[in-house]
Amino acid sequence: MNKNLRRAVIAGNWKMNKNRAEAKALLAELLPMVKEADCGVIVCVPFTDLETALEATRGTSVAVGAQNCHWEKSGAFTGEISAQMLAEMGIQYVIIGHSERRQYFGETDETVGRRVRAALDAGLQVILCVGETLSQREQGITGEVVGLQTKVALQGVSAEELQKIIIAYEPVWAIGTGRTATSAQANEVNHLIREVVAGLYSKADADALTIQYGGSMNAKNAAELLGQEDVDGGLIGGASLKAPDFTAIVNAASGK
Ligand code: PGA
Repeated sequence: MNKNLRRAVIAGNWKMNKNRAEAKALLAELLPMVKEADCGVIVCVPFTDLETALEATRGTSVAVGAQNCHWEKSGAFTGEISAQMLAEMGIQYVIIGHSERRQYFGETDETVGRRVRAALDAGLQVILCVGETLSQREQGITGEVVGLQTKVALQGVSAEELQKIIIAYEPVWAIGTGRTATSAQANEVNHLIREVVAGLYSKADADALTIQYGGSMNAKNAAELLGQEDVDGGLIGGASLKAPDFTAIVNAASGK
């Protein structure tokens, strides 16, 4: 159906892992393994590894992303990094609104929206994370929660700018828990997000949008999840820290 309209993208979210030497070693192992990938491959590394990752991936098709950015260009925001700073050093992608940022660092739908705006203005591409908590799922409000997160984050984003956005559906209860959403659950919510986007823009815009699934995706379950009509890739935490595991997921997305 419409799946072939979209590019599959596998992004590694290293979170707060790997010092510079470890990052260099992991990339040295990984890059030859994903050379033939038939999908987009991104590594989202800690700020302190960005330079190392840029250097290691130069001349390859693997892109580098950061895991957050601030909404102001500069100023008195101790501990923050602006989207401009990332763009200026050659970074292409930034994860925004990850549930760990929402949970531990007071990120709200509104600040997520401001960060998305800043990232787009700086010329970055965005991996926008949305997802419900376990209690929200149990209350039966997954659709409302994810729909609202999507709408607020995309407020003021034009159809043209939407092409620079990937949405990652990450149910909070599946992140780092080993408890993966079933492929049917992942597909259902990804489809719902696509319908929300179709309502905000057009069906054609929604059909062209890459919507990833994230949450305990691994070498074993990737093929089944990625085979779903509305699952166009993955945002990978734990399994992105091991080159063979991450490669197996990239291969599954490449149909290998
Ligand atoms: P996980 O993390 O694959 O370790 O569950 C996914 C994420 O948080 O992006």
